[in-house]
Amino acid sequence: MRDRLETLADAARRDITVASEVSAVEALRIRYLGKKGELSGVLGGMGKLPPEERKALGEVANQVKTEIEKLLAEALRRAEEAALEAELKGPRLDVTLPGRAVTPGSRHPVSRTMEEIVRTFARLGFEVAVGPEIELDYFNFEALNLPKDHPARDMQDTFYVDEASLGHVQKADSPVLLRTHTSPVQVRYMLARKPPVRVVVPGRVYRRDSDITHTPMFHQVEGLLVDKDVSFAELKGTLDAFVKAFFGSDTRTRFRPSFFPFTEPSAEVDISCTSCGGKGCRICKMTGWLEVLGSGMVHPNVFTSSGYDPREVTGYAFGMGVERIAMLHYRIDDLRMMFENDARFLEQF
Ligand code: DAH
Repeated sequence: MRDRLETLADAARRDITVASEVSAVEALRIRYLGKKGELSGVLGGMGKLPPEERKALGEVANQVKTEIEKLLAEALRRAEEAALEAELKGPRLDVTLPGRAVTPGSRHPVSRTMEEIVRTFARLGFEVAVGPEIELDYFNFEALNLPKDHPARDMQDTFYVDEASLGHVQKADSPVLLRTHTSPVQVRYMLARKPPVRVVVPGRVYRRDSDITHTPMFHQVEGLLVDKDVSFAELKGTLDAFVKAFFGSDTRTRFRPSFFPFTEPSAEVDISCTSCGGKGCRICKMTGWLEVLGSGMVHPNVFTSSGYDPREVTGYAFGMGVERIAMLHYRIDDLRMMFENDARFLEQF
């Protein structure tokens, strides 16, 4: 057994001196000193020896163990130094370099504004609904009291969808287009539900327009409230409450008579200039007022197209452009900023 211990010690000395990597040193430690290692293997039979021999052998075994431990510790230090040396020679890891900051993203001003408009109306009890961006001429125009030859259709230059591009989709009786406003969702919503209705509709709309103040795609939020005996005064009160909640409590509203085919009477709503407070400045073109939305009492023909009886219910509707409101809210003076995705602009929100 003593011989076996000597042989083991020789082998260990030889192996450990040539081990040059940290992982190799660790593997040798397990091999020689581990629980199921070689030293344990040799000492396994010691129990059967007479006491004196066991004692003497135990001493030798301890010496061998101590020596191997010492050799392993030295080998480990050598291996670690070599590894560090290699790292310094190779591509350098400079632990003193400052870290790279992670820039969190932020919500686009249009999304933020749209969410804030919707949230403000939600506090007034409005639900949220959406409708398709690829729409039928019927819902976008016809059902909203805009017959085919109606001159008001010229107000909105429409993108029509080439029917051939619809592929296998079943052809509709009505031409297909990109909705020019969110108003068609009024009709879709009423067709699907019984009154009373209190809903806002955020979404994208499309028009063949492109210049400094117009983009082919923009966003609107539509509103619709229908019940028995809804009055124009309620429309005024609700929009006034919205404007004050959204733009600040000292903002005033002004209702100007206007025309929309789907409302009668109709009004355009102005707010006191968010920049000068009404005194007159560049932003409000010296008028003191800014136009922010269209509105009116739902036209009886719209109720009829929607399956509601105009003798039973009345209601009001309104629609606003989100980009325009965002520009007023954040004092952005160029619409194109909204769509350029310049990080220096977007980072500010
Ligand atoms: N749909 C109109 C537009 O895009 C905005 C509008 C005006 C919506 C009056 C309404 C409304 O619901 O009552 O210009």
